[in-house]
Amino acid sequence: MKVLVTGGAGYIGSHIVHDLCDQAHEVIILDNFSLGRRENVDPRAQLIEGDVRNMEDLNKAFGMRVEVVFHFAAWKAAGESMTNPMKFANNNICGTLSLLNAVVEHNVNYFIFSSSAAVYGSPQYLPIDEKHPKNPENYYGYTKLAIEENLEWYSKLKNIRYAALRYFNATGYDVKGRILGMENNPTNLCPVVMETACGMREKLLIFGNDYNTPDGTCIRDYIHVSDLSEAHLLAMDYIIEENKNLIVNLGTGSGNSVLEMVEAAQEAVEKKINHQIIGRRPGDPENLIASSELAFNLINWKAKHSDLKTIFKSMIPVYFKNMNKR
Ligand code: UFG
Repeated sequence: MKVLVTGGAGYIGSHIVHDLCDQAHEVIILDNFSLGRRENVDPRAQLIEGDVRNMEDLNKAFGMRVEVVFHFAAWKAAGESMTNPMKFANNNICGTLSLLNAVVEHNVNYFIFSSSAAVYGSPQYLPIDEKHPKNPENYYGYTKLAIEENLEWYSKLKNIRYAALRYFNATGYDVKGRILGMENNPTNLCPVVMETACGMREKLLIFGNDYNTPDGTCIRDYIHVSDLSEAHLLAMDYIIEENKNLIVNLGTGSGNSVLEMVEAAQEAVEKKINHQIIGRRPGDPENLIASSELAFNLINWKAKHSDLKTIFKSMIPVYFKNMNKR
């Protein structure tokens, strides 16, 4: 298939591009390099440096007779979305709608959307399944929900088939070791842990140990990015072959606390990681765990690489390679 991947140089997008190219799909990347990294661009893909909000860039990409769109180009820092919602509205909502309009205009039928567990907000029960009420607690989560709702309308009105993949805590790096450019200015736990392990940060700050969990720190469902990538390819096959939309959670069904993550990282890097407990970060739910049964039933997907050892081992080449460069 001829596939357009927006944000194909970014953290998750670059993994999917490599796997799409491995399966001999013809890939076009549209990325503005605001967060993406050139070293993570698969040389087998065609690169358009541009933005989903720019009509000329979109026309250039769609002029290449795209058949499927994977959309990753969006902001993802939930905390920042609460202080600068305009930035998130502009890119995550306006940018995606302009992309969707181009999809309709160019008669593209298939759209794979990078959604998030943030659409649910604080859990009313665990594990969270797809029927759980959707009450985003941050504006970032709202932008993902707003696009899911638009996708439903566009699907009904314009016959687009789409997949909305609700990631839980995406982490790790390519299990095949092909992607080595680390994320710019990360705020998520695992990259911050690894930056601390390799000496780029003095210490990891742990946001609260007074939650109602066994060790007092928050629990999350960490899912390896290589597992996420596999789910995207299966999702594409599903919406094409079944001619149906697909809305599924992508997680492992079990969770780990922040302290468990630090311990696993210490074992992987074989050294102590300096950390300090500070106060809670506003808006952190204490426990988020996915039910991914639906993804298993519909696309036969299950996490394979998401044990903590594999997660941190896969991050070592990225962080320790960069440490040696400094
Ligand atoms: N944490 C720390 N110190 C840090 C960073 C994180 O203690 O420096 C803690 C957080 O308080 C939280 C846990 O580690 O308890 C995970 O935090 P992340 O920032 O890595 O991830 P979040 O769970 O806040 O959010 C992530 C994505 C969202 C997505 C969500 C779904 O960033 O986009 O997972 O579960 F919606």
